Amino acid sequence: MRVNERIKNISIVELLVSLAKRGCDCKLQKITSKEIAKDLKCSQQTASRKLKELEELGYIVRNVGSKGQYVKISQKGLEYLFRIYKELEKIFSEHAHIYTINGIVTSGLGEGKYYMSLEGYRKQFVEKLGFDPYPGTLNLKLATGEDIKIYQMLRKMDGILIEGFKQKDRSFGAVKCFKAYIDNIEGAVVIPLRSHYIDIMEVISPKKLRKELNLKDGDIVAVKVVA
Ligand code: CDP
Repeated sequence: MRVNERIKNISIVELLVSLAKRGCDCKLQKITSKEIAKDLKCSQQTASRKLKELEELGYIVRNVGSKGQYVKISQKGLEYLFRIYKELEKIFSEHAHIYTINGIVTSGLGEGKYYMSLEGYRKQFVEKLGFDPYPGTLNLKLATGEDIKIYQMLRKMDGILIEGFKQKDRSFGAVKCFKAYIDNIEGAVVIPLRSHYIDIMEVISPKKLRKELNLKDGDIVAVKVVA
């Protein structure tokens, strides 16, 4: 397959996904080339041309009239999308992936030390992550929009669940973890299930990372997360 054709194939998927998200997987739906252009980040002319190509290839059915353009993904288009979906599902459920997230070392309010010292959490970390964490969390402010995007994706993934518990009438919430490496030092990203922080990521490790890696506030750290 030539490079051009491969790129063309990617466009087919993107285009079909855009149409499906707009309801064209179920019924003939009114769609403008402008809407598709917005999804694909291309010009309106390109979107219009791509829709025509998709129709010629039999992936969509199109009615163009005085009331505008109506599109529905054909049986062939749906089968094509479904096959890709099954392949992606297989990849994402069977293989672990490494995502690199960059963050800026930041100081918190000293709460990490308190939480990490609680036996209810500590014993689960030892059992489920295989290491006894240094009492504290290294706070990393996510450096770019791309880092925030990956972190948001992690928040939606299952991860290793550390259950919540009650202690002296106080309840402590569940957190999920992902194994991670910080410059080849073993660790984990911890995400409280109820947290609403979107740009701060907390990292734990058996080592005191500030000391091991000679880190100070403002330094950038690359965390390799296994998910
Ligand atoms: O004060 P803050 O909330 O930032 O920190 P903490 O969670 O109480 O942790 C105590 C100190 O250890 C902080 O300076 C953390 O950045 C640091 N730390 C570390 O260097 N390596 C870890 N594995 C955990 C925490």
